[in-house]
Order: sequence, then structure tokens, then C-alpha cells
Amino acid sequence: MKRTLGVCYYPEHWPEDRWAIDAAQMIEAGLNWVRVGEFAWSRLEPSPGDLQLDWLERAINVLGDAGLQVVLGTPTATPPRWMLDKHPDMLALDAQGQTRGFGSRRHYCFSHEGYIAESRRITEILAKRFAKNPHIHAWQTDNEYGCHETILSYSEAAKRAFQDWCAQSYQSTDALNRAWGNIFWSMEYDSFDQIGLPNLTVTEPNPSHVLAFRRFSSDQVVRFNRVQTDVLRAHTDAPLIHNYMGRVTDFDHYDVGADLDIASWDSYPIGFLSDRLEGSPEHKARYLRQGDPDMQAFHHDLYRAVGKGRWWIMEQQPGPVNWAPYNPAPLPGMARLWAWEAFAHGAEAVLYFRWRQAPFAQEQMHAGLLRPDAVPAPALDEARQVANELAALPDVDIGQSRVALIFDYVSCWAWEAQPQGADFDMFRLAFETYRAARRLGLSLDIVPPDADLSAYEMVLAPGLLETPDSLQKYKGIALIGPRTGSKTAELSIPTPMGPNIKGLDCTVARVESMPPTAQVELENGGAFLHWFEELEGNAEVSLRSSTGAPAIMRADGLHYIAGWPNAASYADIIEDLAAQANIPTERMPSGLRVRDTCSHRFWINYAPEAVTYQGKTIAAADVLWDARD
Ligand code: GAL
Repeated sequence: MKRTLGVCYYPEHWPEDRWAIDAAQMIEAGLNWVRVGEFAWSRLEPSPGDLQLDWLERAINVLGDAGLQVVLGTPTATPPRWMLDKHPDMLALDAQGQTRGFGSRRHYCFSHEGYIAESRRITEILAKRFAKNPHIHAWQTDNEYGCHETILSYSEAAKRAFQDWCAQSYQSTDALNRAWGNIFWSMEYDSFDQIGLPNLTVTEPNPSHVLAFRRFSSDQVVRFNRVQTDVLRAHTDAPLIHNYMGRVTDFDHYDVGADLDIASWDSYPIGFLSDRLEGSPEHKARYLRQGDPDMQAFHHDLYRAVGKGRWWIMEQQPGPVNWAPYNPAPLPGMARLWAWEAFAHGAEAVLYFRWRQAPFAQEQMHAGLLRPDAVPAPALDEARQVANELAALPDVDIGQSRVALIFDYVSCWAWEAQPQGADFDMFRLAFETYRAARRLGLSLDIVPPDADLSAYEMVLAPGLLETPDSLQKYKGIALIGPRTGSKTAELSIPTPMGPNIKGLDCTVARVESMPPTAQVELENGGAFLHWFEELEGNAEVSLRSSTGAPAIMRADGLHYIAGWPNAASYADIIEDLAAQANIPTERMPSGLRVRDTCSHRFWINYAPEAVTYQGKTIAAADVLWDARD
């Protein structure tokens, strides 16, 4: 496969006589792809029914004639102002019942039937006009579902749709009352139209009600996206893509991905470090201009699963962004490193965001490959370098990793509905597990709970709401827990109590959560943070707390862990399990990561200093690779 580069471009932001100049310069830099259109609705249809598509066709043709392949985005993330006059109730309401107004983007409620029809209509108009255009090689639906916390809406439309969803899911209010335990506090319903949304309650709403609302809200995204994919499929065979985000877990990406051909995501490593990750001040200072060494890789591996093997970066940070609390510039080399890291994890394409920095509006301080005055910004040269290197590299054969980490979205919603301890965050637990494995030099696949695990030699399964069947059948080395299998699908406590793993006689009798000032010491000098479970049963105890309580219980390869290990303990535990699985580990120098594919080993240095390792010196912000024997 030819791995390729590209860029996001907004022809509607620039005079038409600039388009050909830009296109030529993109080609000169070695770019293959250009994404257009995803926010252009007000220029495509300035007033209802007044379609102005000619300019977009000219833009696509100019770009395509220059040699670029075009990704066309549907513009539904930015409904124009007139849409609100037509559908005054299409806006989402936040949990406080406040309307989320016009003047930025993503101002719609996923449950509004009128807006869903508008979204179908504009998608069909674009599909009919452009599907046969030879320059269009892929389509993007909408833009970043969930950006700006836009999945949950507490509108009237959402309430009615939720009542229907409950009626379909539970069939009777008796069944729903039983499933949610509504006898508690006399919360029983006797008709579906009595059921409200779980906001504005006096104290916390029933977590089962919240979880049902989260499942419903995710299904609404799937449905909204499917309206567009159904239309597009009727007109084109080109691959359909959505561009997801980093650390957004508010909808089930596997479910949305099932209707698409490629998953893409938008990678802003420096913004994420500052805005979206826990970490000590020292960690954030060390990686200030590079981003966290595991955050991008985690999402690359996650989106490879969401895309069923096919994934891209649709937006790659090129310089300072505008939206984080602090927006430092990347170290020279990072715009190249991030692209190469993505290719090492199997990205088919990496597109930088954006071509030319806009001199106006919200993102005028967000870098592009060109400055606002059209002078090249530093990342343009780095992109050109990647293009040259790609041309010289025989293809990377990704293959399957030996280790899998199971990650699911329902568990994220469950523990948000019922954290039980302020620091129990599912993404954080999964990410710290992933980080611990990577610091041992391991390469991982992230997989959904229903994945076939049989070819993996080691499986990590932290924090899953239910113990998946795939794991019940698994015969290799597994680390399961904490919290895995502790609840039913409706978020109540099962009898017998969890984790209910076949062949492992171990039950969680009680849990406790802890503030950051406390920890549970382990007999080997390690510690658990945030969370600790009291285990009982006859399985072998392979690790104990300093007071003798079981910390890990095991039978054959199955290990259940009762807490959330700190970084040092996680390394020890995973190292020990990997040894049982005959998987070699290596303790990586700080900031350096390796990524093994079937064809190559990559050394990726996120450290701000050069690192010498395995006979190689890898400069700060550099990436090296070798073919594997
Ligand atoms: C993404 C979004 C882009 C742009 C970018 C800025 O979230 O898709 O449209 O806003 O962030 O970093």
C-alpha cells in the first residue's frame, strides 16, 4: 500500500485566483490528499433552497487537475443561521437546560427530526452533484461527532426520542422499572411518556437511568451518521470516513465505525497534553513541545480497531493550536515524527490541519502549513521531508500484535454514571495500562470486547463493565480488573458477585476508593492508587498487599487484579505476565518508544534530548526505523 500525506483546505476562505497557486504548492510539497467542504454550508446554500455548488465544483476541479485527490466533507457540523429560523427547536440543551446557541459550530441536537431531514437533504444534494466527479476519492461525514461535548442533549426532541428508545428496549414499564431498580426511592413509572432525562434531579439520578440515556445518546449518533452513509452509498463506492477525536468517549465509536470504511482521527498532541491528560507538572513540562509519548499511539491503535484495520489521521497538528490553555510550538521535527508514528501504527494517510492559517475568526491563532501571509510555516518543510521519505520506504506491514488491550465505550459511560471515587476514569485506567505496557517496549492492538482474542498471547482487560464472552473463552495470559465484571449491563450488582470469570474462583466482596493522598501498599514495595477491592475465593494469591490481603488472584493464565497499580507496580506486573507468555520486554528509556510491525521496528523519541539505545542514537524529536529480519 502507498501511504500518503495531505492537508485540509478551505477554498471558501480565499480568493478563487489563489486556489491554483495553493494546489500547485501542495503538489510540490508531496501532498496527495486535500479535504474540503466540511464547514461550507452557508456558501453552498446561502438561503433555503438557493443552491450555489458551482464554486465548490470549480475548487474541486482546480485541486484535482493539479493532481490532488479530494475528500469531500458533508457540512452538517455547521448548519447556517437560516436553519434556526426554519427549525427554532433544533438546538441542543445542556444539562442545566440552557440552549446551546448559534455562533460557533455543532449547534444541533442529534434527535431533532427536522435537522436529520436537512442533513439527509444536503448530503443527497452533494452526493448527486459530486459522486461522479473523478477527483473525489473519499467522503467525510459531518465533523468530529462529540467535539465541544455535543453528544448529550436535554432537549424536548431528545426526551421524546429517549421515551421511544426505552419503549423499544424494555417493551414494558415493569421491565424497565425492574431493570433500573426504580422501587428504590419510589421512582417507578407506569407509562413511557413519564420518563424524563436524567438531569435537573434534586440529587443524583439513578445511575441505570443515566446509563440508559448514554446508550440512547450513542445510538442517536449512529443513526444520524447512518442517514448520511445510506445516502452516500446509493451514489458512490468511494470510502466513507468520519474524523473522530482524542479522548472523546461519549458515543460508541465501534458502532459508528461499523457503517464506515475508514476511521480517521484528529491528532493535536501538544493541545491534548495541556488540555486533556492527567499528569504531573514535571511530565507536562518535559513533553511541552512534543505531546505525551503514549497519547497518539493509544488513539492510533484504538482507531485501527474502530476502522476495522483501515485508518487515517484527518487532521495533524502542524504548529501551535489556539484552543488549549497554553499553546506552545512543537520542537522542530515533531510534525514529521507525529506523521511517522502514525504510519508505524498503520495509518494509510496523514493530513495536516490546515493548509494556510486563517487571519480571521476563532482559529486565527492556529498554525497551518502556511502562515496567514502565505509564507511557508516550519511544518511545510517537515511534511515535504515525510513525503520524500515515504517515497523511499518499502511498505510497512502492520500485522497483528501479540498483546491486546480491550477497550469499550459502555464501560466509560458506566463509570461516569457511577464513579464511586472521583479519580476512577475509564479512559485514564485504560490509558495507564497501555502506557505501562509500552514502557516495556510492547506493541499492542486495542480491541472491542467482542473481538476474537484467540491469536493474542496476552490480553489486558481493565475496568470492563461486564466480563466479555471473548475473555471467558480465552486460554492465554490475561490481566483482568480492577472493576471488570462487577456489574450487569444495567449497572446493578450481579449475584453471584463479580468478576464471575470461568475457572477463576475469586469474588470481589467489597470495594473502596481512595483520594490521591492515600494508597494501598503492596508486599513487594509497590502500591495501588485510587481503588482497592477485597477479594475472596480459593484461587491462588500471586500478589498481596502489605497487610496480607490478596492483590492478584490467578488460575492458569487468568489473573484478576484488585486495584489500580501505580506506574512502577504496573511495569512489574505486566513484565511478569509477559514473561509467562514468553513475550520479551525491555524497559524503555524515558520518552523513547518502540513500535514493532511485521516488517519494521520504529524508534520514536518524544524526549527533549537525544537517547542512545540498542546501538542507535535517536535525536530529540526524531524517529528511526529498520527492517526486521
Ligand atoms: C478540530 C476540528 C477542526 C479545527 C481543529 C483545530 O477539532 O475538526 O475544524 O477546529 O480542531 O485544532
